[in-house]
Amino acid sequence: MQPSYDYQQVLNNSERVNWRVEDIIGGSKRLDFDRPFMPESLARVRTLSFLNPNEQLVMNQIRGHGYLYLFSVVEEFIVPFVLDHARSRLNGNDARTRALLHFADEEAKHIQLFNRFREEFDAGFGTPCGAIGPGDAIAGAVLNHSPLAVALVILHIEWLTQTHFLESVRDDQTLDPQFKSLLKNHWLEEAQHAQLDTLMVEALVEAAGEEEIVTALDEYEAILHFIDGGLAQQVELDADSLGQATGRELSEDERERFVSVQQAATRWTFIGSGLDHELFLGTLDRVHPSVRERVARMRSVYC
Ligand SMILES: [Fe+2]
Ligand SMILES: [Fe+2]
Repeated sequence: MQPSYDYQQVLNNSERVNWRVEDIIGGSKRLDFDRPFMPESLARVRTLSFLNPNEQLVMNQIRGHGYLYLFSVVEEFIVPFVLDHARSRLNGNDARTRALLHFADEEAKHIQLFNRFREEFDAGFGTPCGAIGPGDAIAGAVLNHSPLAVALVILHIEWLTQTHFLESVRDDQTLDPQFKSLLKNHWLEEAQHAQLDTLMVEALVEAAGEEEIVTALDEYEAILHFIDGGLAQQVELDADSLGQATGRELSEDERERFVSVQQAATRWTFIGSGLDHELFLGTLDRVHPSVRERVARMRSVYC
C-alpha cells in the first residue's frame, strides 16, 4: 500500500539526521584511490574485459567523479524549485514551510558536499576528468518546464538514490569508506526529500487540470530524454578521461564496446533505477491513468 506522508513527521525525522559536511570529508578523512568508489552494479567496469584490473579500477573512480558532478548539477535545480514551491503558500501550514526550507537547505549542503568530494578527487586522481555542462545551463534547461514535470523528475531522482544505497552500496565492503560514507549520508537525508517530493507532486496534481497533467507527463519524459543525451556525452568524455589517466588507447572496437556498456550503465544509474522503485511508480500511478503504458515504454529504453 502507498504510504501517506506528513510535513511535521518529515521535519522531525530530518532534524534527527542532520550531519555537517566536515563530519564526512576533510582532515584525516581522505579518499583511498586503491579502492573502488562505485558499486559494480552501477559502474559496470568488469564487463569491460579488455581493460586490465587497474584500468577497471580507474574507470570505476571516473564514474565516481561523474556521480559527484551530476548530483551537484541535479541539486542545483532542486534548490530553486523547492524554494519557489515553498513560497507559493508561505502563510499556510508552518510545518510545511519549515520542512520545505529545511529540504532546500539540505540540498544546498549536498552541493557543497559533492563539490568538496570533487576537490579531494581532483587533488588525488592526478589527471582531469571531463564533465558535461555548464551545470547551471543544464539546471536552467530543466527548470524551463512546468512545475509538475520538474517535481516528477526530482521525485524520480530522490527515489533512485534510495535504490542505489539499499540495493548496491550498503552491503558492499570493497568500496572506499569515505565515498561509501558520502553515499550513506546522502541517502539518509534523501529519504525525507522523497517524502516531501511526493507531497509536492500530490499538491501540484490536485491543483492541475487533465490537460495540464498530460502535458506535464510529456515534459517529464522529455526531461529524462534530455538527461539521457547528456549521459551519452558524458560516456564519451569518460573514455577520454580513462585514456588520459592510464595512457590506454582504445581500439575502435573497444571504444564501441565501452560506449555501449557505459551508456547502459549510466542510463540505469541515473534513470532506470528510478523507474524500478515501487513507491515512485505508486505515486506516478495516481498522477494519471495513462501512466502505466508510459512507464512500460520508458522502461524498455532505460532499464
Ligand atoms: Fe541531495
Ligand atoms: Fe534530495
